[in-house]
Amino acid sequence: MEIIRSIAEMREFSRNCTKYGRSLGFVPTMGALHAGHISLIERSCRDNDVTVISIFVNPRQFMQSEDFDQYPRDEAGDLEKAEAAGVDAVFLPEVDEIYGRECLTSVYVASLSETLCGISRGTGHFRWVCTIVCKLFNIVQPGTAYFGQKDAQQALIIGRMVEDLNIPVEVMLCPTARDTSGLALSSRNVRLTPKQREAATCLYQALCEARRALRKGEKASMILIELMTEIIEKQPGAEIDYLQIVAPGTLQEVEWVDDLVLIAGAIRVGEVRLIDNLIVHPEHGPWSELPEEEQH
Ligand code: PAJ
Repeated sequence: MEIIRSIAEMREFSRNCTKYGRSLGFVPTMGALHAGHISLIERSCRDNDVTVISIFVNPRQFMQSEDFDQYPRDEAGDLEKAEAAGVDAVFLPEVDEIYGRECLTSVYVASLSETLCGISRGTGHFRWVCTIVCKLFNIVQPGTAYFGQKDAQQALIIGRMVEDLNIPVEVMLCPTARDTSGLALSSRNVRLTPKQREAATCLYQALCEARRALRKGEKASMILIELMTEIIEKQPGAEIDYLQIVAPGTLQEVEWVDDLVLIAGAIRVGEVRLIDNLIVHPEHGPWSELPEEEQH
């Protein structure tokens, strides 16, 4: 496995892949790799001749007072996990390599960046997620890039950026990896005490309850959100940031669910903010193909 720290070397690696007709899959990450990241890497390895991941904790996407300094970092552990998962090259640039020269340009996907996490984290968050992902796409030049449904809004916004700007990368959305309690895996979970970790599962339980009610015929978003609110409010130590039911294409709220919806939530447990979501069709539909744990 190659460890690449400069943009020039990364470009060279990518050029060599395409020169010999090899397909290049790419998984952008901020490190502290867990089984969720690994599931994206494995998918890329299955689909492509060569898999590259990036590990870069992008300072700009952390808004003021947020957790940039406390974001978990484990370079040695990450490299071991990446190699074991079959990664061919890790792009691991320093902040200066990426932002050394003042970056005057940014990419902003209007409307989609202004709902859900765009409200609680500020619209600057998705502006800098898009900008770093666009920069990484230009540096790594993959054919396909893999994103997790855990961050559904992020993946949808990046998909839209790629379409709107004609970036020649295919964006693939992959299922959320969970632990046995249903808690969505996240690098931030390591900052939870065992008790907080247990409390945090209330978000997934609430999402599942909304899905159950929806499939039993309850189509009023207000009622579904009330059901979720009740579950989370019962859980000491968990505080709701938002719970919303939106259309996956526009991320606008729907009042009445008669098509595919994204049921999305964010909670705070102690200092940690956690997000999760389910994509649900009121009559099962194609999503009944989802893995077992998504179908409860
Ligand atoms: P990070 O949080 O490290 O996540 C990297 C990728 O892993 C994202 O596509 C995310 O959706 C996916 N992922 C995280 N947890 C997952 C889980 N439990 N199951 C499946 N996939 C999961 O997202 C970012 O980094 C950054 O914003 C980035 C895109 C790298 C830009 O800086």
